[in-house]
Amino acid sequence: MSTYTEDQRKVTTHRLSEMKARGEKIAMLTAYDFSMAKLIDEAGMDVILVGDSASNVMAGNITTLPITLDQMIYHAKSVVKGVKRALVVVDLPFGSYQGNSKEALASAIRIMKESHAEAVKMEGGAEIRESIERVLCAGIPVMGHLGLTPQSINKFGTYAVRAKEEAEAEKLVADAKLLEEIGCFALVLEKIPAQLATRVAAEVSIPVIGIGAGGGVDGQVLVMHDMLGINKGFSPRFLRRYADLSTVINDAVAHYIDDVKTRDFPNDKEQY
Ligand code: KIV
Repeated sequence: MSTYTEDQRKVTTHRLSEMKARGEKIAMLTAYDFSMAKLIDEAGMDVILVGDSASNVMAGNITTLPITLDQMIYHAKSVVKGVKRALVVVDLPFGSYQGNSKEALASAIRIMKESHAEAVKMEGGAEIRESIERVLCAGIPVMGHLGLTPQSINKFGTYAVRAKEEAEAEKLVADAKLLEEIGCFALVLEKIPAQLATRVAAEVSIPVIGIGAGGGVDGQVLVMHDMLGINKGFSPRFLRRYADLSTVINDAVAHYIDDVKTRDFPNDKEQY
């Protein structure tokens, strides 16, 4: 049961920075459809991310690369309809913003216009500066994403912890400062050493949300299917499972099949 649901005011980017200032941790979770978004919002989530992890957990792809802008907009529209309080952030998918800044702006505008979400997330630092700046210039809030950026998995070649070496760690700190300076409202740090993430959160004034980045940051994000135990094939060290929904669903479905086969369902009261 959430302890934060009394405050029903809409979460805004401004409120997230106030939360960082007063040391209140930010809770963020992914969602991809109306019904789950509604439940997650009603539980008191601060930020709902329509992540391109939809490519994995909704579409069954191995990576996040195949999901399209149209598909992200479809998920985002469904989520927004279920949310009253949380800030809804949508991932710009691979290939919709890296080419040039005009393309980035056109993609971000489509997301905002068609889904009514409130912000976008973009993976990368200095190399996509122009694209981020152009999106920001249109008044669209941007959340950055550094560290293990899954859209670059083919460059990394592995999902191992990033920025363990000094050169990569220093570039990450410089990128985080750049994202703050150009106006990103928040930053996701994925799968990097906790000490480095803590340093970034202390050195930038924008909220830093971690996934596999330890407890020294301003908030946490997880993929809903992983934390609810729907997807049990993924068990990184950073993942805490809060439910075992795959067992609950399996048992319920097996029970239903059994009831149908044994003619127990429907009974006299379950018909007209
Ligand atoms: O797509 C996603 O779910 C994400 C989170 C892992 C931060 O980007």
